[in-house]
Parts: sequence; structure tokens; C-alpha cells
Amino acid sequence: MDKLIVRGGKRLTGSIRISGSKNSALPILAATLLTPETCVIHGVPDLSDVRYMLDILTHLGAEVTYEGGTVTVRAEKVHADAPYDLVRRMRASICVMGPLMARCGEIKISQPGGCVIGDRPIDLHIRGMEALGAQVEMAGGNLLARADKLTGTEIFLGGKNGSTVLGTDNVMMAATRADGATVIESAACEPEVRDLAEMLIKMGAKITGHGTRRIEVEGVAALHGCEHTVIPDRIEAGTYVVAGLITEGQVTLENVVPEHMTNLLDRMKACGAIIKAHGTTLEVGAIRKLTSMEAVTETFPGLPTDMQAQLVALMSVTGGISVITDKIFPARFMHVPELKRMGAKIAMEGPTAIITGVPNLSGAPVMASDLRASAALVLAGLVAHGSTEVNRVYHIDRGYEHIDDKLRALGADIERVKSGKE
Ligand code: EPU
Repeated sequence: MDKLIVRGGKRLTGSIRISGSKNSALPILAATLLTPETCVIHGVPDLSDVRYMLDILTHLGAEVTYEGGTVTVRAEKVHADAPYDLVRRMRASICVMGPLMARCGEIKISQPGGCVIGDRPIDLHIRGMEALGAQVEMAGGNLLARADKLTGTEIFLGGKNGSTVLGTDNVMMAATRADGATVIESAACEPEVRDLAEMLIKMGAKITGHGTRRIEVEGVAALHGCEHTVIPDRIEAGTYVVAGLITEGQVTLENVVPEHMTNLLDRMKACGAIIKAHGTTLEVGAIRKLTSMEAVTETFPGLPTDMQAQLVALMSVTGGISVITDKIFPARFMHVPELKRMGAKIAMEGPTAIITGVPNLSGAPVMASDLRASAALVLAGLVAHGSTEVNRVYHIDRGYEHIDDKLRALGADIERVKSGKE
């Protein structure tokens, strides 16, 4: 298994380009199943999660090519059976449910298992499919759904922790081909949901209200091929914002949509960061030591849960006491014990991390447990004294395109050790 060796203490400076969004690309690739015509998707990041999704599309019968960030999918014929071996690798594979229900009127998909970031139920996805007229049952670890036809209706998609991103995506995709109009109340407003809606509209779907809590979809008889470019990855960009700040550096990020990051950028400015946006370019630095923060993750436009781990790392070396609560995934704190091994002072109270900033962290061998936790450990390694060895790097490769190359381009001392070599 590859590992990353980070030797801390380098101030990051320079410019990098942010990749296309993983969490936009995955449902958008799934949406290509909605039509037998060719879809061309640009700006697709080269990530293992993307490769898994392409494997799933291929398994389902689509012809797929991927070259230079562009994916071409032609799903002339598809079948509705997504087996465990493929689905278990990535929870986001659940987003083929909506397109397959629309296209085939049925789906058999292995039920996604547990997840290291906590409980990941799919009750809202199921509730949405049932509201559209599907019969859903569980058998042998599989989720089976069938509908002779999908019928538009009003669906409330709020759960105990707020709206659901992929649940909204699934219902929106299924509803594009339903009879009549569907209204999704308490829909997710995330930019990635909006991006998917824009892509579906290019395919001929009739959708309004995307980007708000109420999405309306008027079903159409057929969808056609399209060409679409996925939005830049706001979480990757946010992670490099933290990389700049944690090393007291000065970084420029190209290919960013600052409006997708307002909450994070405002909070960083409140802590003392100087952040300037010029069109799609972001300049990040600070002229004084950052101050501590209190933050709660929320659905968009709130602070994203996908930035929680990175902020815990940043606050570990920021003076004062910070309090960070994850309301979306209350158990998503696997990075905390590892950060503590590097000298961070963090106490947990339920879904809240209470962080007492320390002057220094010290490098240590640490274990990545999930994508964002791994990013937090790399960030901590950038500023720690000595060398940090981040094991199980495959987690980070699921969501950060060429992270070692990009950090090196900013001046970090980071090296990837391939499995079998030391
Ligand atoms: N939830 C339910 N029932 C459901 C679905 C979700 O109660 O049927 C709850 C979840 O347990 C959670 C909350 O609703 O408490 C929000 O979960 P959501 O469904 O929005 O998560 P998701 O759609 O499965 C996407 C991203 C995640 C990101 C979350 C929240 C993709 C592929 N994944 O997951 O990204 O954390 O939204 O913004 O888009 C990541 O990139 O590291 C990542 C985990």
C-alpha cells in the first residue's frame, strides 16, 4: 500500500489548478445512464472513485472512454444489476439508483455497507423512490426496486440531519422520466446538486428551483446526449486554502468558484486570513497569526462537513481554544486520535471537538481512515516538526487528484512511497 512521507516546515507558496469536483462528477457520470445517446463530460478528475464509477457504468452495459479529463459514455443498452463487488468499493454508487429506475423501471443494487465516517442510511433515497411509485424491498443484502411506471408527486426529503445530497440527486434523476410533475421539498442546495441539474437540463430535462430547497421536475418522454463540464472541486480548493494557512504561506488557486466557498472563506477571514478572489482565482495568505474558531458543519450554504477534519488540523496549531461540531456526520472524527499522536490537544464531547491550539506538532507514523481524515493528516504533516508517514494513502487518492504533485508544486517536501518500496 502506498504511503506519503511529509517532512514538515516548508512555507507553501505558488499557484496550482483545482480539479473538477468529485462529488459533481460521480452523479453526473451516473446520469449518463438516462439516455442511449452519447454524453461527453469534461473536467472529470482522475480519482479512484471516478474509476470505480466508470467500472460500474461499464458493468451496466455502457461504452466508456476516459482521456485527458474527458469521459465519453454511450449507454445504448443497460441492465439494472449492480453487484456487491463493484458497489462495496464506494458508497456513491447508490446514485445509479435514480437513473436505472428511470431507464429500466427496476434496479437490483447491493445495499451499501457501513462506513468509517459513521452511519450512512439510505432511507430517504428509498422514501423518494417509493413516493414515485416504486416497490422497494431488501433481500439477500440487495436492494430491489421496481415500478411499472414512475409518477410525479410531492416528496419531502428532509432527514434528521437535514437534506440529503445524493438522495436529492437520485429523486431528481428518476423524476426526469416520471409521468407528470415532481416537487422535492427540503431538497439539498449544494452546488453539486445544481451542477447535476444543469447537466440534466442539457439532456432535455425540465427542472426548476435547483440550488433552492424546492426543486420542481416536469417528467419528459426521453432524454438525449449532452456535453457538460463539471464544476471545480470546492472541497479540494478548501483543503489547499488550509494548506496555505497552516504553513503560513501564500498560495494562489486557479479554477475556483469563490461563491461555492463563501462560508469557509468568511470563517478563515474572521480568523485573520487575507483571501482575495479575482474571478476564478483565489489568493490566500495571512499577515498575522490566525485566531481560534467556533464552527458547526451544516448543509450548504453552511460550513461543509467535508472540511471539518482539515479545520480540526488547522486549529490544532492555532492559538486559543476552538470548538468544531459536525452536525451532518457526528461520528466523523477518526482523524482526532491520529492528530493527538502528533501532539494535538483535542477533547471530544459527542459530535464536538474541543481543540486547544499547541505551538508545534511532531511528525509520526499515522493511519489514514477515510478521505478527509487523510487530508487532515497530510495538512498536519506539512507543519509538524520532523517526518510524518501517512499510511493507507488509497483513501486520499479517492478524492484528491495528484495531491503529492500539487503540494510539491507549492514547495512542500512530500514523497509517495509505492507499496513494496521503502
Ligand atoms: N441521511 C439519512 N438518510 C438518507 C441519506 C442521508 O439520514 O437516506 C443523513 C446522513 O446520515 C447524513 C445526512 O443525511 O447525516 C447527509 O448525508 P447525505 O445524504 O447528504 O450524504 P451523501 O449524499 O451520501 C454526499 C457526499 C459526501 C458529503 C455529504 C454531505 C458525494 C459522493 N458524497 O454524501 O462526501 O460528506 O454529501 O455533504 O457527493 C466526501 O467527499 O468526503 C464525502 C463523504
